[in-house]
Amino acid sequence: MASLMTSRDRFLAAFAGAPLDRPPLWLMRQAGRYLPDYRAVRAQHGFWEVCKTPALATRVALEPLALFPLDAAIVFSDILTVPDALGLDVTFGTGDGPRVGRPLKSAADLEQWDVAGAPAKLAFAADAVTDLRRAIGERALLGFCGSPWTLLCYAAEGQGSDDFRAARTLLLKDPALARRAMEAFADVAAGLLRAQLAAGADAVQIFDTWGGLLPRELYRAHVVPMIRRIVEQLPSSSAGPARSILFVRGGQHLLPVLGESGVAGLSLDWRTPWREARALYPRLVLQGNVDPITLLAGPDAAAAEARALVADMRADDGGRRCIANLGHGILPPTTVESVAALCRAVTEVQWSS
Ligand code: CP3
Repeated sequence: MASLMTSRDRFLAAFAGAPLDRPPLWLMRQAGRYLPDYRAVRAQHGFWEVCKTPALATRVALEPLALFPLDAAIVFSDILTVPDALGLDVTFGTGDGPRVGRPLKSAADLEQWDVAGAPAKLAFAADAVTDLRRAIGERALLGFCGSPWTLLCYAAEGQGSDDFRAARTLLLKDPALARRAMEAFADVAAGLLRAQLAAGADAVQIFDTWGGLLPRELYRAHVVPMIRRIVEQLPSSSAGPARSILFVRGGQHLLPVLGESGVAGLSLDWRTPWREARALYPRLVLQGNVDPITLLAGPDAAAAEARALVADMRADDGGRRCIANLGHGILPPTTVESVAALCRAVTEVQWSS
């Protein structure tokens, strides 16, 4: 039976806690600048143009599926679509990351946000999911959004940062403003995820790239309720609650409180020991967590790391409720050969029940 599993069956079986023939596999940032056709598309089209044109978004989302035996596609978009739709005017310069034209500095800035108008401006995201769903056959499909905290990081700072001190200062100095801003992000993001699920996404991932900057009690007090606010707005299906995954970069110290957010799965950062997370959360889907740097170390290193991870997945509960992935997104200098070797190491596994 196991060998007849399609990619989508395998992915859904992980959420159902059913036996797996091997872990389902996808990779964070599997579409992007490390791929040749992506670079060709970007030479002709702006980043927002790619996100907002379903044919282009689908083309770049399909490229990794054509090259590697991945079990899932992720819609091509960005977490910063949400603040952009609220009117914060997000742009991507050449190579230097995002810029926020109208950053959040005071309550007056927040008054300008177009919460009511944002969902209509995000309609392209559901269209991209519809288009991609048609193109991927029996593979699983993920939608995604940014966590309210990570969106607040960019909104308050106005650009990328190593420590996002503007957002962390805001959280401590004016927690009421930070909360109102995060509630707006949460509600618009929840609407986006609902639209992606309605358009055919099998699961959704919430990216909290900067969650690890916060100490545990601040994260628990201010961010966990925002993740919960999103999860509670997702529809449940006959198969159970919506399939949701929370990724927190640098979140090892947060692990004990992440389960309080109500998500169905946790995507582990590369520094989080798989078996420690499993001991804490025997019933959650766990995803991860090969260090993306191993892909830079070459095909052999990548394959060895993937094999070790898959052995850990199998060790504790016979290999249920697991999804193979990286511990953060693929970096631009990564080679196609390294990604192929990692994928091979996972997909050649055969677990007998
Ligand atoms: O294939 C996929 O995974 C889907 C596409 C995807 C992108 N961004 C496309 C993208 C996803 C899931 C994201 C999420 C995202 N965006 C996160 C969370 C995950 C993470 O990597 O931590 C964050 C923090 C962002 C915000 C963002 N978008 C930054 C900081 C940047 C510039 C730096 C960078 O990584 O390139 C982007 C731009 C961006 N988003 C690119 C891509 C392919 C590169 C744009 C280009 O120059 O072509």
